[in-house]
Amino acid sequence: MTPAGPRLAGRRVLLIVSGGIAAYKALELIRLLKREGAGVRCVLTAGGAEFVTPLSLQALSEEKVHTELFSLTDESEMGHIQLSRSADLVVVAPASADILARMAAGLAGDLATTLLLATDKPVLVAPAMNVRMWTHAATLANMATLKARGVAVVEPEEGAMACGEWGPGRLAEPPAILARIEAMLNHAARPLAGRPVLVTSGPTHEPIDPVRYIANRSSGRQGHAIAAALAELGARVTLVSGPVSIPDPPLVRVVHIETAEQMLAACRAALPVEAAVCVAAVADWRVEAPSAAKIKKTGGGETPSLVLAANPDILATLSADGPGRPRLVVGFAAETDDLIAHATEKRRRKGCDWLVANDVSAAGGAMGGEENEVHLITAEGSEDWPRMAKVAVAERLAARIAEALA
Ligand code: CTP
Repeated sequence: MTPAGPRLAGRRVLLIVSGGIAAYKALELIRLLKREGAGVRCVLTAGGAEFVTPLSLQALSEEKVHTELFSLTDESEMGHIQLSRSADLVVVAPASADILARMAAGLAGDLATTLLLATDKPVLVAPAMNVRMWTHAATLANMATLKARGVAVVEPEEGAMACGEWGPGRLAEPPAILARIEAMLNHAARPLAGRPVLVTSGPTHEPIDPVRYIANRSSGRQGHAIAAALAELGARVTLVSGPVSIPDPPLVRVVHIETAEQMLAACRAALPVEAAVCVAAVADWRVEAPSAAKIKKTGGGETPSLVLAANPDILATLSADGPGRPRLVVGFAAETDDLIAHATEKRRRKGCDWLVANDVSAAGGAMGGEENEVHLITAEGSEDWPRMAKVAVAERLAARIAEALA
């Protein structure tokens, strides 16, 4: 059910490859862009050329690779101003700390920075560097400057780095960069422009007493990424989020709640919507009568008993037939065993249209992590998606929702 035909046919990308060990991933990005039908013209900085050769970029892009600012042949064939404007989008991947600093300062000492200063096209950067360089005040200030000027960013991922350290700074995976490029190039179409959608995300906190609560490990990353991806496609998104430590996504109306009952009330208040995506890890039970005062230890050493009550099922409530039912209701299922069978049964039981099943067993490890391997269960059957960053899952799902509501 993936859209037929290449999604970037006729679109042109100018890809600037700067220095860093991640430069090899640019080769994969070129391959993915070409597979989607995009034309790719590459510019290799002197730093980038330490890691990949012009020849490999040329072989994959099937176009001449540009490296020199003052090449007379290039100037007569195609001036650098024209080069910077012949593309629909300029992408810097990987973007080193150095090129980001030079972009922020407006320097134009080489071909890449000259093009970046001369272009009138949208610019997307995919930073990659050592974690300390990424979190250095200078880089943070440069990123803030670039973002304020409208430069789009595919944030680096967290993980083991070539230098042996761990942290954010690793280049986003090529499929995630591709998804962002697609979203930017197809922005004009904005297939969900003005359409109201609802997303739930994060855990719920169910109070035991004023200081204690029942919760779970949900980070909110997947739900927030879906809200952001739907907003990118133009949707008017209401995100109802439990307590999370990640920032609100841009261009989204966020309603912060704590308990399942508050989440249900906020969802009801957001209706009517055309699509609802329930990603939240809602606590199945709450404490029936939370204590108004902090529960104290007793001298006798008795342990308190908690009497639980079932929480409302938000997904099932939104899926119930009725005049206000969203056209498309999507649930998520976290499973540890018999994934497809359980998820298929859960889709029927909850009454939703689609169910995105993910494996949260120790081997799957999705909960709280950066990546997800999911299966899309519909009335027609199940579809296996490859393991990818949660952001890429979000973009793919948002695109599918846009198709379904078309
Ligand atoms: N969900 C919800 N409200 C609840 C419980 C779950 O909206 N009270 C939604 C979740 O947002 C998710 C889906 O239901 O989209 C599946 O959640 P999951 O925890 O896997 O399902 P359960 O109903 O808890 O099933 P079980 O614990 O039996 O696996």
